Amino acid sequence: MNAKSRLNGKRFVVGISGGIAAYKSVELVRMLRREGAEVQVLLTPDAHRFVTPLTLGTLSEREVLTEIFPANENGSWTKHVHLGLWADLMIVAPATANTLSKLVSGVCDSMLTAVALSARCPMLVCPAMDHDMYEHPSTQDNLETLRSRGTTVMDAPEGLLASGLTGKGRLPEPVDIVSTAAVILAYSTPRSSGPQVLVTAGPTRESLDPVRYITNRSSGTMGFELARAAQRLGYQVTLVAGPTALETPEGVARVDVETAREMHRVVMDNRNADVIIMAAAVADYEAGEVAGDKIKKGDGDLTLTLRRTPDILRELGTLRREDQVLIGFALETRDAEKGALNKLHGKNVDWIVLNNPTEAGAGFGPGTNKVTLFGRDGSVEPLPTMSKADVALAILGVALPDISREA
Ligand code: C5P
Repeated sequence: MNAKSRLNGKRFVVGISGGIAAYKSVELVRMLRREGAEVQVLLTPDAHRFVTPLTLGTLSEREVLTEIFPANENGSWTKHVHLGLWADLMIVAPATANTLSKLVSGVCDSMLTAVALSARCPMLVCPAMDHDMYEHPSTQDNLETLRSRGTTVMDAPEGLLASGLTGKGRLPEPVDIVSTAAVILAYSTPRSSGPQVLVTAGPTRESLDPVRYITNRSSGTMGFELARAAQRLGYQVTLVAGPTALETPEGVARVDVETAREMHRVVMDNRNADVIIMAAAVADYEAGEVAGDKIKKGDGDLTLTLRRTPDILRELGTLRREDQVLIGFALETRDAEKGALNKLHGKNVDWIVLNNPTEAGAGFGPGTNKVTLFGRDGSVEPLPTMSKADVALAILGVALPDISREA
């Protein structure tokens, strides 16, 4: 398998600290992007002296972050936690002697060091500095400590250094960092303990005849992000997916289904999960009768008879254990709150996540979402417009605070 297929769709946090080798990390970001990876760049304040946020923001197609509390903050101060959960791998390259010592002692004075502390993904550290600093017992002890904690540390190759000295301290070539990253990802093992979560996602597809079907505009993104976030938080996740081209999140068991009836069967088979999140846009109607042959057109109009599909969430609400957590979604374009509350109580669930696809920042497909959570205990939690990955983490944080802490 080449690096390209292994890194496609993977998510990297690339932390760059303030050393001359930072210029090489521009190439590293470019290579990761070319391999199909998503990259979030974090610069320490000193790294700005060597490379610009404009260059790295353009290459990564994401805003480059430095401070934990930036001046123009818009209410999402927990970004460091989200990024730590979002990433498949965090790379710190170059790691200066100063940043290394912060990683070891847990200093948390920039977005880079904060994400490093909260990250649950593996970490790859690539030290680069002058030879004597690199060989100093403090630095060597720090590298050893990081290794003993499970961090992968690449040796700094020998060669001509920016100081004019020759010795160890160079940053490995970006191509070697990318190869090491691919190996780490290939061997990182998913968690297989923790409470069980069942997530449904995507549309369903109801056949009318052998070539035609009824479906809806759901992309499945929100449900897939919920599955990914739950896995990162330590749950054992099963994802029941309607037809979608999305890739299975790492460590998640996926069952593909096509119709609402198939989804119903798989969900019922797994209805003992500790948490069930019905994010799928399940079709409410199927064909009264699926034609065995392609329906031929006639001169006049055609009337189809549609039949109700099973309401999976309602059935789960009837059969539920009291200690189970049931989360449903409501997609409303009119009388939204009333519709959400009707579902909350009518289907006997713990939380309804309301979204209105006609609102700015909400809707189908990749990108952002804007939701409000309604709880059985009467709580109402409006969330700001965020990426669907962040919305997923926020939903789990609100709906499963106790289990999240245990996991
Ligand atoms: O009643 P409505 O379809 O608006 O409710 C939406 C919620 O119910 C979603 O969580 C959806 O996954 C679930 N649902 C279901 N079975 C259906 C239709 C919707 O579980 N047949």
